[in-house]
Amino acid sequence: MDENRVFIFDTTLRDGEQSPGCSMNPEEKLHLARQLERLGVDIIEAGFPAASEGDFASVQQIAREIRGVQVAGLARANLKDIDRAWEAIKPAASPRLHTFISSSDIHLKYQLRKSRAEVLKEARAAVAHACSLCRDVEFSPMDATRSDRDYLCEMVEAVIDCGARTVNIPDTVGYAIPDEFGDLIAYLFAHVKNIRQAIISVHCHNDLGLAVANSIAALRSGARQVECTINGIGERAGNAAMEEIVMALATRKDRFGLSTGVRTEYIYQTSRLLTQITGVRVQPNKAIVGANAFAHESGIHQDGLIKEKLTYEIMTPQSVGMPESHIVLGKHSGRHAIVNHLKKLGYDLSEAELNRVFVRFKDLADVKKEIFDEDLESILYEEVLRIEETYKLVYLNVVSGNVAIPTATMQIEFGGEVLKDAGFGVGPVDATFAAIRKITGTNYDLMKYAVNAVTGGTDAQGEATVQLKYKDRAVAGHGAHPDVLVASAKAYINALNRIEWLKKGE
Ligand code: KIV
Ligand code: ZN
Repeated sequence: MDENRVFIFDTTLRDGEQSPGCSMNPEEKLHLARQLERLGVDIIEAGFPAASEGDFASVQQIAREIRGVQVAGLARANLKDIDRAWEAIKPAASPRLHTFISSSDIHLKYQLRKSRAEVLKEARAAVAHACSLCRDVEFSPMDATRSDRDYLCEMVEAVIDCGARTVNIPDTVGYAIPDEFGDLIAYLFAHVKNIRQAIISVHCHNDLGLAVANSIAALRSGARQVECTINGIGERAGNAAMEEIVMALATRKDRFGLSTGVRTEYIYQTSRLLTQITGVRVQPNKAIVGANAFAHESGIHQDGLIKEKLTYEIMTPQSVGMPESHIVLGKHSGRHAIVNHLKKLGYDLSEAELNRVFVRFKDLADVKKEIFDEDLESILYEEVLRIEETYKLVYLNVVSGNVAIPTATMQIEFGGEVLKDAGFGVGPVDATFAAIRKITGTNYDLMKYAVNAVTGGTDAQGEATVQLKYKDRAVAGHGAHPDVLVASAKAYINALNRIEWLKKGE
């Protein structure tokens, strides 16, 4: 094995999905898993099968269909969770069971209410049981960075002794500082006798904005697996961003001498796909994948770049797959041009999918002169990753202005019938949402509403995101249309359809 090879463990579908508004349906998860496979990650953590029937089914589907990458399922350190996770991942070509229990005194005292000896015993039993089912077992001592170092060493040694092949050291609450975290990994290497029998992994949260720096410090101390997510999504402030780690290693190979198996030219596409699915955009100045990541505004920089790119560019937009020009197609573009362009973007659609995309493309090209990659992606999202539509927007007419009472008249198809009603509000969006609530008889709390222009220009499509509160979760819906009110209505209805879908899995 190449000792400079870093394994990329992607947890976008598990830890990433735990971020508010980032829940995905099974079709979307499978689609993203396919993209992660194309991107070249080593392991996909597909979910937490014991969490719900829906999680179980989705992990199992990914295990069945994704053959080129290892598929991991997460389980608490108890036999029932482990058995459930194994049931879900066992169809995988290369399954991995990932089990965890806390190791910090804070968690032991207040959450688990167990002694160190009891927890150590449970960790051993869990790993031994997992190893009796699966050849590849990973163990995580949760809250490792706030744990007593010697107890942590004892636990790591014990689980390796029981057969764990990977031991992951999580900075669960994002508390570590890079040199301290690097020291902790070095300490483990120095004090755990059997540590060379396992791969040491790290899993850093970004509460202090240090997740990527901490992960890299750990790699410098000998860790060889990094757990990370696309766009850095994840619990609270998120997880370490995969694109940042991978590009730091690639760009500063001179310093680290480490490599990954990631095909960096798919990074941008993967980031965009996740944004399309969740509606959670990255900030424009986000490293690697933000809209401004390669935009040079200052005259001095532009002057330098014209003379020699090296002056101000440490990596090229092409190396992460960011297209230089987003202009693609227009009204006269034929089906062939679209197929070719979609292929260039990495999408290989079935005939039926292509037909739907083509119809939507033509409709849009009738009202918009230039169709950009982003427009195509939003069409793709709606037509290919379509969720079952319990409710479907049929008709929307909105009257508003400085003298009118904003009124939305609407028709929605439900159960084969077309229902109609009108809503009033303080503005056109408020009226539109009121009409939807009336027709559907629903009244979920609106947690977030946002509209962005998909591209520049006044003829740009609006991309709307709506988050509704269902039980304790934020369910996001998205819609795109040149008319922002239609986009908003579609986003609200999409969120309702997602709630209906969730209800079916309960
Ligand atoms: O943050 C954490 O500790 C985790 C573990 C389950 C690995 O996500
Ligand atoms: Zn985590």
